[in-house]
Amino acid sequence: MYLTKEEERTLAGEYGETLRKAIEILVALGEIYGADSLIPVKSAQIAGVSYKTIGDAGLEWISDLKGKVKIPAILNPAGMDMLRWKEMGIEPAFAKKQQEIIDAYESLGISTKCTCTPYYLEGFDAGFGDHLAWSESSAVSYANSVIGARTNREGGPSALSAALIGKTANYGYHLDEKREPVVAVTVECELSGSDYGALGYVAGKEIGSRVPIFFMEEKPSNDELKALGAALAASGAVALYHVDGVTPEAVRSDFERPDENIMIEEQQIAEVYEHSENLKGGETDTDIITLGCPHCSPEELKAIATLLEGKSIQKEMWVCTSREIAQKCAELVKIIENSGARVVCDTCMVVSPATNNYKAMMVNSGKALAYVPGMCGVAARYGSIEQCVKEAGATDDN
Ligand code: F3S
Repeated sequence: MYLTKEEERTLAGEYGETLRKAIEILVALGEIYGADSLIPVKSAQIAGVSYKTIGDAGLEWISDLKGKVKIPAILNPAGMDMLRWKEMGIEPAFAKKQQEIIDAYESLGISTKCTCTPYYLEGFDAGFGDHLAWSESSAVSYANSVIGARTNREGGPSALSAALIGKTANYGYHLDEKREPVVAVTVECELSGSDYGALGYVAGKEIGSRVPIFFMEEKPSNDELKALGAALAASGAVALYHVDGVTPEAVRSDFERPDENIMIEEQQIAEVYEHSENLKGGETDTDIITLGCPHCSPEELKAIATLLEGKSIQKEMWVCTSREIAQKCAELVKIIENSGARVVCDTCMVVSPATNNYKAMMVNSGKALAYVPGMCGVAARYGSIEQCVKEAGATDDN
C-alpha cells in the first residue's frame, strides 16, 4: 500500500501516539482489504457511543486519545437523551459514564449531536461521489444508496481514526467495481410507507452482504428508501443498494441486470406485519411503542404530529430524532408531546438501556424489528405509523 512521506512519518509516531495509532488502524485495514492508498474523506460518523454498547473498555480507549479531528466528525446515538435522561428512567451511574464518553469525544473536536441521520444536519450533508467514513449501518446505506456518496461500513475505531487522519483506506465501496449490483430483487406487489421497512427486513435475509438492485413499480420517497436501507442493513448486511430508475447511480449508470433474481411477493410483506416469532412467551400486548429508527426527518415528525394532534395516548410512546431536527421542528414536537408521547433526542430504542424493562414493543422500523429482541431482550411487533398510533391507544381529547 502506497503511503506519502507525511503518512509514513505519522506511522512512525513523529506526530504523537494518537495519530500513530489511528493511521496504524487505517493501514492495517487497507492491507487486509487490498487498498492501494489512503484517500481524503469529507466527514466521519462515529458509532460506539452508548455506554450500553462500549462499556468501560471503550471509554478508556477514547479517553487515552489526544489532539483534534481533521475533518467534520459526528457521533452516533448515545444511550440516553443527554438532557432528559432522568425522565427515561436512566440510572445516575449510567448517566455519569455516558457523559464521560461524550466529553471524551468532544475533547477531540467531534460534534456531540448524536444521530444516525447526520445527512440532515448542516456540515454533514454529502453529495454524489463524496468519500466518507461513516459507521452506523443505516447512515452508511443512505449515504451510499440514496445520496450516491461512498463509504464502507466503518467500525467505531476506524471511523474515529479516519476523523483524526482525515483519510481512509481506498477499498470496498470507494471503488467503482464494488458498487455494481450482483443480485436483482423483483418486487411483485405494490408498496407504500412502512412496507419498505418490511421489504428490507425480508430481502436483507436473502441478500446478505451483497449489492442488490431492486425492480419495482413505485418510486419510493427518500424516507421510504431510508427505511428500506436500514432494514436491509440489519436483517442482512447490505451497505449499498440500487433501485432501478430511482437511486442516483442506477439512474446514471447502465448496470447490467444480474443473473440471480430474488422474487418478493405480497404474502412475504404481509407476514412481517403478522410477525410473532420474537414475542416472548406468546406476549402480544405491547407496553411501549417506538418510532424514529432511523431518527425521524422533519417530514416524518410532521406525519406523526398530524396523527397525534388533539389526541391522548394510553401507552408509553417514543419518537426518536436528533436534537437539531427536534429544535427546528419545535411546533411539531409540542403537538406530539401534548398527546403524552415523548420526543427522545440523542438516543434510540435499541442503544438505550431504558427500553430493556418493557415486555413488548411495537415498531414501524424493520431495523428495530430485527434488533430489539436480541439487543434489548424485548419482544417486537411491526406496524405502520397509523397502526403504531392506534396501538398506543390514541383517543380524541374531550
Ligand atoms: Fe438509528 Fe438506533 Fe435505529 S442508531 S438506525 S435509531 S437502531
